[in-house]
Amino acid sequence: MTAIVLISGSLRRDSVNGVAIATVRTLLLRREPQPGTVLLDLRSLPYYDQDLDVGDGPQPVARARRLIANAEAVVISTPSYNGGAPGVLKNALDWLSRPWGDSALTGTPTALLSASPGPRGAADAQPGLRINLERSGAVLIDHPLVALGNAEGMTRTEAGFTDPSVLALLGEFTDAVWAGRRHTTGPAHDGLHVTPVF
Ligand SMILES: Cc1cc2nc3c(=O)[nH]c(=O)nc-3n(C[C@H](O)[C@H](O)[C@H](O)COP(=O)(O)O)c2cc1C
Repeated sequence: MTAIVLISGSLRRDSVNGVAIATVRTLLLRREPQPGTVLLDLRSLPYYDQDLDVGDGPQPVARARRLIANAEAVVISTPSYNGGAPGVLKNALDWLSRPWGDSALTGTPTALLSASPGPRGAADAQPGLRINLERSGAVLIDHPLVALGNAEGMTRTEAGFTDPSVLALLGEFTDAVWAGRRHTTGPAHDGLHVTPVF
């Protein structure tokens, strides 16, 4: 079974982007047929080093590339670090962008949202990431901008945010992901390089 791959650009334990990703997962799991969902743990990837990028790359990278290449869709939620993506997220996308022209992201439907405790919801991190994703061959799923501002104060459970207006917004986002996903026939992911936190 292939999966919809979920990525939080923040490693922080109480990350609002982690909560956004948990919410998207909860909404996806209400779909029929129920999709597999996998969280790609960015901690598993080494720093990008072109000297290491030979053959399939280091084992965690090779596994991440296989997972993304077989994904029905990828969903990324990112904070803004000084107006751009956190280094860990950019690092992952750099690994996933190679080899150029035949990367794991080539043709992979990908949707992007952002969240922050501040009022603008880290919207400023999105344009640069879109450029990174497009250059890597990802197919950006068409949807209105989702940038969750003031997210630290939003009510939540382990399943994600609970505020009806946030759920409505992320519901529309998830509708777009569902409509934009692809139907892959690749092998089951081995799950070894991911943290199945859900
Ligand atoms: C290195 C760094 C840079 C940051 N830069 C910004 C920024 O440019 N704009 C912003 O709204 N918040 C910025 N923040 C605050 C983050 O929005 C905040 O830490 C947020 O909680 C991160 O998302 P998370 O909750 O998913 O971890 C920055 C935080 C760090 C650690």
